[in-house]
Amino acid sequence: MALKWSEELSVGVEAIDNQHKSIFAMANNLLDAMEAGHGKEEVAETIAFLRKYISDHFCDEEELMINHNFSGYAEQRKEHKRFLTEYLALEAEFEAKGASSHFVVKTQLFLSSWLINHINKSDKAIGGFLKKEYTL
Ligand SMILES: [Fe+2]
Repeated sequence: MALKWSEELSVGVEAIDNQHKSIFAMANNLLDAMEAGHGKEEVAETIAFLRKYISDHFCDEEELMINHNFSGYAEQRKEHKRFLTEYLALEAEFEAKGASSHFVVKTQLFLSSWLINHINKSDKAIGGFLKKEYTL
């Protein structure tokens, strides 16, 4: 089952929504490549590419929060760091053992549940804050 971005996940900031859409698309490509049994080197590159993209995306969100004095910044930054730590652990597991079907399911569950929860709870709070700031 693929990860699916929908309008319900919009945070109200177009640049962030577009990055989220790209993350979902890249995550699906990664899961497809693992399921299809693509070469280890190719999959490893895709995993690293997605990590870099997500890490850059976190930086963009953090910059936005800092620039607008968003009070939830510290908590968001912690969540971002926790995600990257878990992602690196998955990356290391892939390096050591490759992509078993159990690993693919675990990666999919981790990415989809983390992304959806984080976007709904934390990223939407940024969008809500900005909207309020600019309509007052
Ligand atoms: Fe975030």
